[in-house]
Amino acid sequence: MPENTLTVTDNRTNKTYTLPIENGTIRGMDLRQIKTGAEDFGLMSYDPAFMNTASCKSAITFIDGDRGILRYRGYNIEDLAENCTYLQVAYLLLFGELPDQKQTREWVDKITHHTMLHETTKEFMHRFRHDAHPMGVLTSTVAALSTVYPEAKNIHDPENRMLQIIRLVAKMPTMAAYSYRHSLGFPYVYPDNELTYTENFMNMLWKMVEPKYVANPVLARALDILFILHADHEQNCSTNTMRCVGSSHPDPYLAVSGACAALAGPLHGGANEAVLIMLAEIGDKRNIPDYIKRIKEGKGKLMGFGHRVYKNYDPRARIIKQIADQVFQVTGKNPKLEIALELEKIALEDEYFVTRKLYPNVDFYSGIIYQAMGFLPEMFTVLFAIPRTVGWLAQWNEMLEDKEQKISRPRQVYIGHALRKIDGTKFATVKSAVGR
Ligand SMILES: CC(C)(COP(=O)(O)OP(=O)(O)OC[C@H]1O[C@@H](n2cnc3c(N)ncnc32)[C@H](O)[C@@H]1OP(=O)(O)O)[C@@H](O)C(=O)NCCC(=O)NCCS
Repeated sequence: MPENTLTVTDNRTNKTYTLPIENGTIRGMDLRQIKTGAEDFGLMSYDPAFMNTASCKSAITFIDGDRGILRYRGYNIEDLAENCTYLQVAYLLLFGELPDQKQTREWVDKITHHTMLHETTKEFMHRFRHDAHPMGVLTSTVAALSTVYPEAKNIHDPENRMLQIIRLVAKMPTMAAYSYRHSLGFPYVYPDNELTYTENFMNMLWKMVEPKYVANPVLARALDILFILHADHEQNCSTNTMRCVGSSHPDPYLAVSGACAALAGPLHGGANEAVLIMLAEIGDKRNIPDYIKRIKEGKGKLMGFGHRVYKNYDPRARIIKQIADQVFQVTGKNPKLEIALELEKIALEDEYFVTRKLYPNVDFYSGIIYQAMGFLPEMFTVLFAIPRTVGWLAQWNEMLEDKEQKISRPRQVYIGHALRKIDGTKFATVKSAVGR
C-alpha cells in the first residue's frame, strides 16, 4: 500500500477504496467513486462555510493560525512591516519577489501615473445621496469602472490584465477619498504625483485651501504599515468571493466590486467599525464586566475578537498595538484605548475566551488608530479595501493561471420536498383563472 494514501471502507457495501493524499488533502472528486450502486450519484463531502475544504493551491500567503504566523511569499509580516513600503509589498504579492531599487522606481512611477479618475466617474460619484456610506459608494464605483475600461474583459491577455491591475491599485485611494469628501460635502481633491502612495491619499482626503498638502510623516508611515498588514490574508470571505466571481471570467472591476461587497459585512472588514461602536456602547471601564457577562450569555459577540484561522494572538494586532503608540504621540491618546486595553486584559484571562481561543484580531486596535488619525468610522472598511485590492488581484491572477481551476460551483444537499403535484381544487390555477 503506498504510504501517502487513505484507505476507506464503505460499511454500506463493505467495499474498500484507496485514495491518494497530496499536501495533506484528499481530492473531493475521489469520493465520487464511492457508491452503493450504479444509480447512486456517489459520495460528496458536506462542508458549510468551508470549515475544512481547500478551494485552491496558492503560493501567495501562508498563515499558521495556531502559532500566530503570517507570511507573504515567504516573508514574515513583521519583517515586511519594518523594512518595506506598501507598494513594494504590493509588488511582492503580485510578482512573487520584492522589487530592487530600479524596479521599485518603475513600479511606483506606474502606479502614480494611473491615480486619476475619468471625469465621468467623478460625476457618477457626485450623484450619490449626500449621506451615502463610503463603502457602498466605493463598491458601486469600482463596478462602474467596468464601463470606463471595456477592454478589461480581455482577461486572458496578461499585458491587458496587468494594466487593469495597475489601474485598480492606483485608483482605489482616489475613489476612497472621493467617497469620503462626498459624504462631507467637500470638493474632490485631485491626486498629487509628487507625494507617496499614502501621502497622496491623505492629500486627497484632507487638503483644504492650502496650496500644497504636507502629510505628517509619522502618520503617513503608520498608514503605510496598516496597508501592508491588510494587503492579503489567503482565502478569507472577500478573497474567496474575488476568486468565485472571477471564475466566471468577468473583468476585474466587477470581481473587485464583489469582493468589496463581501468585505463590507461586520463579520469581516466591517468589524473595526463595529469595534468602535462597541467601545462607545461600553463607554467606561467600569461597565466592562457587565458587558462581558452579556457576551458570555450569548447576547452578541465581542467585536474584534476571534478568528476562523488564528487560534492565537493575531500577529497583525501585535504590530498595530506598537504603531498605536507612535500615532498617539502625534494625535494625542484616543480615550477608547483605555477601554480596549482593559477589555483585552479581562477577556484574555476569562475562561470563556481562553477555552475558545478567542484573541484580539487585526480589527480590535486598527479602528482606534484610524479614529485618532481623524477618520470617521464609516471609512474604516474602505481603509481595509484599499490595500486588500492588491491581495484580491494577486489571487485572481493566480487563479486565472491555474489549469486546475474552473467556474466555481459547489454542490448542495437537497432537503426540500420530493415531487409534488398542484392540487387544482385548493389553488387558483392558471386554467381556473382563464375559465373565470
Ligand atoms: C471572526 C468570526 C466570524 C470567526 O467565526 P468562526 O470561526 O465561525 O467561529 P465560531 O463562530 O465557530 O466561534 C467558536 C465559539 O466562539 C464563540 N465566539 C467566536 N467569536 C466570538 C466573539 N467575538 N465574542 C464572543 N464569542 C465568540 C462562538 O460563539 C462559539 O462559541 P460556542 O462554541 O459556545 O458556540 C467570529 O469570531 C466573530 O464573529 N468575531 C467578531 C467579529 C470580528 O471581529 N470579525 C473580524 C475578523 S478578522
